[in-house]
Amino acid sequence: MLLSLPDPPQPLATPAPLAVLASGRGSNLAAIADAITSGALAARIVLVVCNVPGAGVIEVARSLNIECIVLPHQGFVGGRAAYDAALAALLKRRGARWVVMAGWMRIATSALLDAFPDRVLNLHPSLLPSFPGLHAAQQALDAGVCITGCTVHYVAQAVDAGPIIAQAAVRVLPQDDLSALTQRIQLAEHTLYPRAIAHALSQETSP
Ligand code: GRF
Repeated sequence: MLLSLPDPPQPLATPAPLAVLASGRGSNLAAIADAITSGALAARIVLVVCNVPGAGVIEVARSLNIECIVLPHQGFVGGRAAYDAALAALLKRRGARWVVMAGWMRIATSALLDAFPDRVLNLHPSLLPSFPGLHAAQQALDAGVCITGCTVHYVAQAVDAGPIIAQAAVRVLPQDDLSALTQRIQLAEHTLYPRAIAHALSQETSP
């Protein structure tokens, strides 16, 4: 796998408190937790928030002994900004300094982004700026590209936009169907995301 990152950064003196926002299977949560356990990522996960009741990530968090709060967006009174304001307040209460989106299929508003300036990260299953939005692996297959991959970026207030931190390239094989390609992209994500988080933590400039 071709990774855009240099060597792992120097470990931080104190583990950085992260919150993970997710709504899927939780495989990236597990990969981040593994990297913390192995010492490759100097961080601690203070909270997982899931917006989809019943999502697999809830069980993954439980098995890792990490607190997981289910905060459904459906039926939330006040709309997107009110939801993000409640979310930001919750993350602050738990002491999170960084917000790591892993399968968080929502556009962040300023209510969240302003509470964590330059400290909200997202993972997307394509080489951005190609194939933003939903069904990125299917978009890559439809376009007939030979190489796709995954991207970790700082979150800006738009779909899959913001400064890129790191990317990993994944070959599209002639026999690939959606499931095979998605699986290989996810494997790349599990290597890329913890390393990209470590890199972002080491680059922190804001007080
Ligand atoms: C990942 O493939 C990520 O790129 C996308 O959502 C998926 C989440 O997977 N945004 P998981 O829940 O971490 O297994």
